[in-house]
Amino acid sequence: MSFNLEQDLEAWRVAGLYRRRQTLDSPQGPEIMINGQHGLAFCSNDYLGLANHPDVIASFRQATDHYGLGGGASPLVVGHSRVHHRLEDELAEFTSRERALLFANGYMANLGVITALLGKQDGVFHDRLNHASLLDAGRLSGARFQRYLHNDVDNLDHRLQKTPARRKLIVTDGVFSMDGDVAPVKALSALAGQHRAWLMVDDAHGFGFLGATGGGVAEACGLDQQQLPVLVGTLGKAFGTYGAFVAGSDALIETLIQFARTYIYTTSLPPAVASATLTSLRLLREQHWRREHL
Ligand SMILES: Cc1ncc(COP(=O)(O)O)c(C=O)c1O
Repeated sequence: MSFNLEQDLEAWRVAGLYRRRQTLDSPQGPEIMINGQHGLAFCSNDYLGLANHPDVIASFRQATDHYGLGGGASPLVVGHSRVHHRLEDELAEFTSRERALLFANGYMANLGVITALLGKQDGVFHDRLNHASLLDAGRLSGARFQRYLHNDVDNLDHRLQKTPARRKLIVTDGVFSMDGDVAPVKALSALAGQHRAWLMVDDAHGFGFLGATGGGVAEACGLDQQQLPVLVGTLGKAFGTYGAFVAGSDALIETLIQFARTYIYTTSLPPAVASATLTSLRLLREQHWRREHL
């Protein structure tokens, strides 16, 4: 069979599914230049306006003077710098977890975690509306793959009761990326406890602004490391930079360093991005401090 790409693309277009890119000529912000025109932006993930913040940019510049630009190697070779390490420590402290591990982006973090934790004898239970990276990771892991009805704890309970799986991982977005609703993480955590399952929350859209200090859905719902053992946050949205992290127990992070292929076999995040992210974190903390004390 030949690759009839033109025909497939035409069918895609006729079905109304064709995607087109818009071209940006300005920094992110409420007002942007797009396709040569001025516009108001309601669709960016730069929720706190940090992507173009002068302090964040200054940190990036300063760090390039010290470290240069590229990460240069996998974190397991010579790509893990002092500034990466400091960011991991601060993210762990910020999320009240034992440790955190940086990944190149959220897609890689999700692929890395789920494939490192699960294999053929295991079961992965996804909310139907989970982000594509989570669903792809579940399939790639080889675990028995199930999707429960959106935010439906009873439907999930029913599925968990019937599974013979060795390890059971419940996976959900924190704030759903398309609809903006929040997962019932407290109820999911309680259910996980009943079934000796683990809960994983991808809080790409909650991290940075939900919760009293911006700690995301885990903070907003008061879930500690035992109740929510696998917490994923991304840095390219509210934090305004790039990358992602997984936060959890020391044993979880060591497992990821040993087995997460998207951590081991890829170049580390540019150190200057880690430095800029430390500044985003500082700004977030200062803002909350001001709100509480002034
Ligand atoms: C819920 C969710 N998880 C993960 C990702 C991927 O994160 P990243 O853009 O850092 O790869 C996104 C969107 O990009 C997302 O919306």
